[in-house]
Amino acid sequence: MGADLPAEAPSKLPYSFPMKIPARLLPLAEDGLIDEVLRPLKSGKEADVFVVRCGAELRCAKVFKEANVRGFRQAVQYQEGRSVRNSRRARAMNKRTRYGQKEQEKAWLNAEVDALYRLAEAGVRVPQPLGFTDGVLLMELIVDSDGSVAPRLDGMSLSPDQARAYHARIIAEIVRMLAAGLIHGDLSEFNVLVDQAGPVIIDLPQAVNAAANNSAAMLLVRDVDRMRRYFGRFAPELLTTEYGKEMWARYAAGTLEADTVLSGSYQPAQHDVNLGELMGIIDAARKEEEQRLARMRADQSDQPDEPDPSYESGEY
Ligand SMILES: Nc1ncnc2c1ncn2[C@@H]1O[C@H](COP(=O)(O)OP(=O)(O)O)[C@@H](O)[C@H]1O
Ligand SMILES: [Mg+2]
Repeated sequence: MGADLPAEAPSKLPYSFPMKIPARLLPLAEDGLIDEVLRPLKSGKEADVFVVRCGAELRCAKVFKEANVRGFRQAVQYQEGRSVRNSRRARAMNKRTRYGQKEQEKAWLNAEVDALYRLAEAGVRVPQPLGFTDGVLLMELIVDSDGSVAPRLDGMSLSPDQARAYHARIIAEIVRMLAAGLIHGDLSEFNVLVDQAGPVIIDLPQAVNAAANNSAAMLLVRDVDRMRRYFGRFAPELLTTEYGKEMWARYAAGTLEADTVLSGSYQPAQHDVNLGELMGIIDAARKEEEQRLARMRADQSDQPDEPDPSYESGEY
């Protein structure tokens, strides 16, 4: 998939001047997997992202940095429950050997690729993964109607109706993900692109296995809360919805399916003491998070809006 090259290339400046191929992309160029690197999209702590041309198609290349350069954010919390099929690998990962470190690194790097394939398969709107070689993920480039790279949600100004519609779409996508056994773990307006057909979820290196991770409920509710807070700016009635808790309760009860439509309210089940307790813990964590955000806003009230650092920190 990916976009066709614009026919009248000279007027579409962002794509018309290939750049020198970065060292990490050279092996892919040599193998004929990519023909040109057109421009960088983002250089981050954990990955560099580029627009590349593969034959007649534009694609997105995500180059993961080495683990020691990236720094593992909350790696233990995220790694928990991630399956390591080969037991020699599993034992090595538990030991702090160099081999173990390398294996852990591989599992981490592969987590985004695994998640993308699973989610694309499950019908979640994510970029179509197109391969993973030498630490580089090739995937569909998400573009908007005129062929330029799709904008992120965080830069957009939405009407209340648009916000309600996008929120509903994202909730449906999170349900579909959870029904497939996965939680994004770092979902925010910075990791959602918007194309002609609506929101597309990206950036999944920390996706967690819902069934096997002790923090799963917390991470799910945090993901849903961030979407609620973002869309609630444009449609304030969304701020009182409880899709996260409702979703987790349905998942825990075994009644969540890919197409389940939720109501947005959560009724604590009297008989389920464990679930009630968990929801109490989630409320306490939420309150702390709100207080922390309020303190941050107070500290930075005279500065322009910056991405919330908690999006990077993975706490809860
Ligand atoms: N498939 C894609 N299509 C278009 N743009 C993308 C795609 N994947 C990533 N991007 C752009 O690159 C940026 C960084 O990618 P992301 O996966 O979020 O990595 P990170 O936030 O870890 O640096 C995104 O915010 C988005 O603007
Ligand atoms: Mg990101």
